Formats: sequence, C-alpha cells, structure tokens
Amino acid sequence: MKKIKLSVIPGDGVGKEIMPHAVRVMDTVAEIHGGLSFDKVTYPWSCEYYLEHGKMMPEDGLDQLKDSDAVFLGAVGNPQLVPDHVTLWELLIKIRREFEQTLNIRHAKQIQGIQSPITNPNNFDIIVVRENSEGEYSEIGGTMHKGPDEIAVQNAVFTRKASETAMRYAFELAKTRKNHVTSATKSNGIVYSMPFWDRVFNDVAKDYPEIETASNHIDALAAYFITRPSSFDVVVASNLFGDILTDISAAIMGSIGIAPSVNLNVNGKYPSMFEPVHGSAPDIYGKGIANPIGQIWTGKMLLDHFGEHEMADLLMKSIEAVIAEGIKTPDLGGSASTEEVADAIVAQLRRSN
Ligand code: NAD
Ligand code: IPM
Ligand code: MN
Repeated sequence: MKKIKLSVIPGDGVGKEIMPHAVRVMDTVAEIHGGLSFDKVTYPWSCEYYLEHGKMMPEDGLDQLKDSDAVFLGAVGNPQLVPDHVTLWELLIKIRREFEQTLNIRHAKQIQGIQSPITNPNNFDIIVVRENSEGEYSEIGGTMHKGPDEIAVQNAVFTRKASETAMRYAFELAKTRKNHVTSATKSNGIVYSMPFWDRVFNDVAKDYPEIETASNHIDALAAYFITRPSSFDVVVASNLFGDILTDISAAIMGSIGIAPSVNLNVNGKYPSMFEPVHGSAPDIYGKGIANPIGQIWTGKMLLDHFGEHEMADLLMKSIEAVIAEGIKTPDLGGSASTEEVADAIVAQLRRSN
C-alpha cells in the first residue's frame, strides 16, 4: 500500500467549507486505486486560531508539517478579524518560504460546459510558472515620517538563482507541451530588476534552442490573456506579475473558484503545498455555495506530483463530466451547492472506474 502523508490545513472562510469535500474526493480516488491511501493530519491553523492563541500556528508548527509528503491547504485570511499581512505572512507565506517552495505552478484551460467571459477562448491552455519567493514580496523596506510627508519604501529582490530556477522549469515544461515559453517583463519601466530578468531569460533560452520564446511587457500580456489566450503555452513570471496573471487566467476559465495551484519545493528537502488559486471568499462564506473544483483540481495536481497519473486523469475527467452535465455552483451560472458538486464528482469517479 502506497501511503501519502498529508497535512491538511482548511484555513479560513470557504477553505473550511470546501476542504472536507475535497478530502472526501481524494479518499474516493484512493479507494478506487486500491493500493493508495492518504494518512491525514488536520491542523486548525486559521484566523480564529490566531484570536485564541495570538499566532497563526504553534512555535513548532513547521516541524509538525515537515515530515509529511505534502500540505493540502484551503485558504487563509479573514481581514475583518486580523489584518491580512499578519495572517498571510505567519502561515501561507511562511510555509512557502521556510519549505523553499520557490515555484508556484498554476494551470488554466478552457473547459467545455463553462461559458468563458471572453469572446475568443479558442481552447486556450496555459500554465503559468510563477517565481514564488522573491520580487516585491520582500521584507526589506520601511516607512518614514508621519502625516502628509509619510513615505513607504518596498524593495524588490531578484536573484539569478531563483529567476533561473523558474525559467528552467518553464522551458522543461514547455518541452512536454507546445514548445513555447513567454516571459512576463516590464523592462521598459523598471530599470534594474526587469532588464536583469530579461538577461537571465535570454541566457536560459540559449540552452533550449528548440523552444520558441516571446517576451511581453506585463501590461500588454495581461491584455493578451483576455484577447488571445490561446497563443500562450507556458508563461514564466516574477512573483507579483505571476500572482496577477493567474487571477486573470482563472477568470477567463469562467471562475477563480476552479483554478488549481501547487507551491513546489524543487530541491526535495521539504513538502510541496497544494492550494487553489482563490482566497477565503468572505463574500460568499457560510452559504454552502463555494465552488470546490479549485481545491479538487488541486488534488489532481497532487496525484500527478506523486506519479499517480492514471488516477489524476480519472479525477480530471470526472470533474469535466460533472461540469458538462451542468452540475455547477453559482459562480459558474449554476445552482448546485458545494456539497452537490462534490457528491457528483464522487459518483462520477465511481461510475467511470
Ligand atoms: P478571493 O479569491 O477570496 O475572492 C475573489 C472573488 O472570487 C470573490 O468574489 C469570491 O466570492 C470569488 N471566489 C473565490 N473563491 C471562490 C470559490 N471557491 N467559489 C466561488 N467563488 C469564489 O480574493 P479576495 O477577496 O481578494 O481575498 C479574500 C481573502 O482571502 C483575503 O484575506 C485574502 O488575503 C485571502 N487570500 C488568500 C489566498 C490564499 O490563501 N492562497 C489567496 C488569495 C486571497
Ligand atoms: C495567492 C495569494 C497570495 C499571494 C496572497 C494571499 C499573499 O494572492 O496565493 O495567489 O499573493 O501569493
Ligand atoms: Mn493571488
């Protein structure tokens, strides 16, 4: 029996509503497989935990997670209770940093049965490789003065190592897809980091002569994601640009509620963390209507990560079949609940096996 040790952190808001259903789906996959099981430990770390304990996780929180094979996370953040920069940096970003999850891989493609909000989806299929550890997400900077003269300085950090890691991953990935990599830049307006990023990209590209490349400024690229998304294959982006692009790539699928992602530890020293692209969605929390597909598709990425490609394909096909049948939450124009969508995926998995 192959056992995958899973640390489950439902987190906040819709993360808490969705996670039990996503776990149920993963257990169904394991049962169908017959030789696979998930050994799960669930952690209550969240904004409510913070209110009780004054921190987002215990002092030895990372030690508790570190021996697991993967972290399965819902969403973090309840800005009405605790400011986001506290909760996110003490849990989500802390795990990404300490576990050296330097890449964030986010997939988006047109799905039959979902009305894309754009006019030319044309079967787009994009993977964004987001550098996940630096850029504008740095703790270097500060605020000065008070009152009308107050100033905030936020330094962005770009290292050759981290940029190159993201780029090489993108090129390797493109080899298994359509042999095309686009780099997100802004070297016309940002004088140090982005010309540097372009230089590193050109250096890495030389090692992959068979891969076609493009380099687009982030403002234009954001627009192209809307006007001609099917012209992209793999896109490599810095941390903030990748964050923004992947909300757009999710939106053109029809809803951010279905978009999956993995925070990848590439050196094998720590577990990777699997979480949907969306946040805790406080505006719909408590209604039982959050789309569970982002979390479940994320589970598909987890299966692929552990080499369970057959099961991953079965799960993806089941998700697509349920959508094609019209069993959809309100964000996709349907009237099904979180639970009904998950039930339908479980039933479909059992049928198609
Ligand atoms: P959000 O992704 O939570 O919500 C944006 C919009 O998408 C909302 O209209 C919401 O209703 C909708 N949406 C999100 N998930 C959905 C789902 N599963 N089904 C249907 N609709 C869904 O982004 P936000 O409002 O900017 O952030 C809310 C909180 O989540 C903040 O505290 C933010 O910092 C946090 N956040 C956390 C993560 C994470 O943990 N990875 C990611 C993004 C935002
Ligand atoms: C994401 C989120 C996070 C990020 C926030 C919540 C810090 O938007 O995972 O996309 O910016 O990385
Ligand atoms: Mn984001």
